[in-house]
Amino acid sequence: MTQKLSGPEKFIEWGSLGEHYSRIKDVHLREYFREDPGRGRRFSLKIGELYFDYSKNLINSETLDLLIKLGEKTGLREKINDMFSGNKINITEDRAVLHTALRNFSGDPVLVDGIDVMPVISGTLDKMKIVSERIRSGDWKGFSGKKIKNVVNIGIGGSDLGPRFVCNALRWYSDRDLIVRFVSNIDGTDIVESLYDLKPDETIFIIASKTFTTIETMTNAESAKEWIRSAAGNTEFISKHFIAITSSKKNSELFGISADNTLEMWDWIGGRYSLTSSIGLSVMISAGYDNFISLLKGSYKIDEHFKNSPFNENIPVIMALIGIWYNNFFRYGSYAVLPYDQYLTDFPAYLQQCDMESNGKSVSLEGEPTGYHTGPVVWGGIGTNSQHAFFQLLHQGSRVVPVDFIGFAQPLNDPGDHHRKFMANFFAQSKALAFGRTGNEVLKAGVPEEQIPFRIFPGNRPSNTLLFNKLTPETIGMLIALYEHKIFTQGIIWNINSFDQWGVELGKNIATDIAEDLSSEKISGSEHDSSTTELIKVFRSVRSPDEGN
Ligand code: F6P
Repeated sequence: MTQKLSGPEKFIEWGSLGEHYSRIKDVHLREYFREDPGRGRRFSLKIGELYFDYSKNLINSETLDLLIKLGEKTGLREKINDMFSGNKINITEDRAVLHTALRNFSGDPVLVDGIDVMPVISGTLDKMKIVSERIRSGDWKGFSGKKIKNVVNIGIGGSDLGPRFVCNALRWYSDRDLIVRFVSNIDGTDIVESLYDLKPDETIFIIASKTFTTIETMTNAESAKEWIRSAAGNTEFISKHFIAITSSKKNSELFGISADNTLEMWDWIGGRYSLTSSIGLSVMISAGYDNFISLLKGSYKIDEHFKNSPFNENIPVIMALIGIWYNNFFRYGSYAVLPYDQYLTDFPAYLQQCDMESNGKSVSLEGEPTGYHTGPVVWGGIGTNSQHAFFQLLHQGSRVVPVDFIGFAQPLNDPGDHHRKFMANFFAQSKALAFGRTGNEVLKAGVPEEQIPFRIFPGNRPSNTLLFNKLTPETIGMLIALYEHKIFTQGIIWNINSFDQWGVELGKNIATDIAEDLSSEKISGSEHDSSTTELIKVFRSVRSPDEGN
């Protein structure tokens, strides 16, 4: 029986790419650069503040042509338009996907079910402005009449990773009189340690949850409520100390937060794509309204670039296509993102959710098993720290990991001579990965012969370099949109739904059942496998020795 092909495999370009791969897979980057001295410039693009170098990839012009043809065959152009115009491309949840509307400065309407969503977006932005300015100016007072000094965002996943990453990224631009913290884990340590040195009457909580049902967030929110209630001793405390961000006003009201203190979210914004929505309130409080708008404008710049540029000049499309080339033809199973900027410490974790929750799927839009690899494992860390941690594997390990280097030409902080040395490392690493060091070069460097095998660097390890002029709210907005659209493009080519996340449900359901077994008198052993049953028994015996059996 022949297997039904529902993904990119059905296109002739997929087969041509396979043949092309067999022909060029052994060509070394040294050879590519030797043959074409202008390669560095030829395989690079510039838009505004960003210089994108993709020359250190295992590709030639033909590879790109074939990949672009594949993109065209999958209907990528039409699908980009479908997303921007509010069509319900999230088919398993019957929802539009409109994070791009959140930063739509064109003045054009965006319709969902025939209704323009731009008025509710700008209304929410106005409300965020009022709230953030009241807190920043000291006008917002806690139950004792003192001004708010601490902002604690309680949320998880997309309601945490985006604002956490950007608050940290824009710290240089932030109001240093405000402390902004993030609580996400249901592990009680997270909230206890986060509140340890804070005073309740000077602390406001943002309960960020699209659904307002997520167990981690609701458990932490209840603990925060209790923390404020026991200090305030009056009934007024919720309106002074809690703001909700949600698409379920009903649920936030049930929790006790009034409509006045609730900022809207919508079902057409996915959690991991929500940073530029009201979920970014903590960013606006920390860095200010104007900087938040600059961030939105940075994302808008990339949205326009993605929507309008031909694919051969389209940075997110090229990033996506090269990623597919490695994932499906070279079969490299992961890629690493390596920002060279201390402020971007939280970027890899943010990107991990954005990419892996979006494209970690193995069923096509038609409900068939894909039969080809989809989303890769995403990991990373900041330079130069990572150089002294996992770079050994990147340089000499048995697996090849393609890398994205992200850096900024101008420093925000440069006491003494830091930035020059820092960026020297940034450029050195992609060069070392690409070109390596041959046995002859090692010998010439005077290394004793018996040590030569250990000192050889194979090279031919690919990377992209994203070099921005400077870390600004605008360039952070650009960075976010670049990866969002890269991930979208890959999802289209793999013919999967990048906008649902059914894979997180099963563990949640099982945890609900197990939570009962951890506290009830009897373990409902028959419902668990023997491993889980024994683990629960051990847990219970440690917690309370008499309950062991
Ligand atoms: O992990 C599943 C998930 O639904 C994510 O997609 C989302 O970002 C996170 O949980 C938090 O959801 P909510 O904002 O509804 O609390």
